[in-house]
Amino acid sequence: MRIGRPTSPTSKTRVVVLTADPGFEEAVRATFSAGAQIDLKVINGALSDHAQGLDLEGATVCVIDLDAAREIEMIALQELMIQIGNWPPVVVVTQTFDENVCRRLLQMRVADFVTKPVSPVELVRTCARVAKGPTTAEATESQIYTFLPAVGGAGVTTLAIQTAMLLLNSGQRGKASTCLVDLDFQHGAVPDYLDLQPQLNLDEIQGRPERLDRQLLEVMLSHHPSGLAVVAAPNRPAETRSLDPDVVTRLLDMVSTHFDHVVFDLPRTWFSWTDSVLMGSDKLFIVSEMTVPGLRHAKQLVDAITDRMPEGPKPQVIINRFEQRMFSPGLRKADIEQALGDSFECAIPNNYALVREAIDRGVPLDEVKPGNKITAQIKKLLIPRQSAKPAAVPVPAEKKFKLSWAR
Ligand SMILES: Nc1ncnc2c1ncn2[C@@H]1O[C@H](COP(=O)(O)OP(=O)(O)O)[C@@H](O)[C@H]1O
Ligand SMILES: [Mg+2]
Repeated sequence: MRIGRPTSPTSKTRVVVLTADPGFEEAVRATFSAGAQIDLKVINGALSDHAQGLDLEGATVCVIDLDAAREIEMIALQELMIQIGNWPPVVVVTQTFDENVCRRLLQMRVADFVTKPVSPVELVRTCARVAKGPTTAEATESQIYTFLPAVGGAGVTTLAIQTAMLLLNSGQRGKASTCLVDLDFQHGAVPDYLDLQPQLNLDEIQGRPERLDRQLLEVMLSHHPSGLAVVAAPNRPAETRSLDPDVVTRLLDMVSTHFDHVVFDLPRTWFSWTDSVLMGSDKLFIVSEMTVPGLRHAKQLVDAITDRMPEGPKPQVIINRFEQRMFSPGLRKADIEQALGDSFECAIPNNYALVREAIDRGVPLDEVKPGNKITAQIKKLLIPRQSAKPAAVPVPAEKKFKLSWAR
């Protein structure tokens, strides 16, 4: 789904309706054209006619007029639901009410369904209700994973992307909603690695962070075909202006409330908002390389963070692009363990060809080479570490960043 940037990311409600029924189209146009706040887009045809996917960029709600009696249409809907993941919500309009169809729609996790004839009021109400999301009050307890570089080019972006992909596919029933946030506003590489258009418009929220609500967040997400949501801004390599910390807080707050898993790709430079990101994280990984300066920088960073935020997450060091050297001179695993002690988490093998191919194709490593050793190591990172220390009292996700931001 490659889509252009919406011309004006305002807080308009964008309703996308797919229908092959001219009568329904007419009714929908009459219903939605009344509201100036509604931006209606009608796509004609049956769902199975759009095997390449629907253009749902910026959509608040998607209404699918479905011929549920045709299996090919049900399968097309199933595929669409997998593709779009968590957002936008989908309302299905069917010809007849059928218990079996109803059950399958529930399993596909459509937001709601109505049967024809649908009154305009009913349709508008249904769309408005599902657009609010699953009762905004019950925020998800998101798990936050942060990757921080100890040296340049250590592989933070690569590991952050692979972790996000694994988390995305870790759901027990289908995909788990996952958002990867590229906080390297100056030299972010996530959009390039995933072949996505960055959609985060910082000017739009600079100075007015409260404007960033769920709807605007949706406009500012990029969607990877896998279902991964990405927050990334166009690079500003020559810009010296610093970002309003409140904007970053608000952004973190929004993503952590609306996704099951959030992965942060942090830059090496320390900003006024960096502490908050680290404090809000459940897992904090420092990525380094197998050189003496690499180990030294990692150790310094671990110490600095532990000093600065003793209550924060324990930094764990990942040595990326690790080569097992049996007989040649140079650093060995024992040296890493000695230098880093308890904060050494794991070594990730060096496999440039594999990583390169995954980046070039914009797919997870597992898709290029199932069962590869890099993915196996990253999977281990996601399993909670057995710790002798009592677990910290969990802080509700929606409070995490607010708490840490209190200035
Ligand atoms: N495990 C690995 N094996 C081989 N090459 C890797 C590995 N991880 C990352 N790379 C390569 O290292 C380079 C830097 O990776 P990147 O993720 O962009 O680092 P960073 O975000 O820390 O700057 C890229 O060319 C990437 O392909
Ligand atoms: Mg990077």
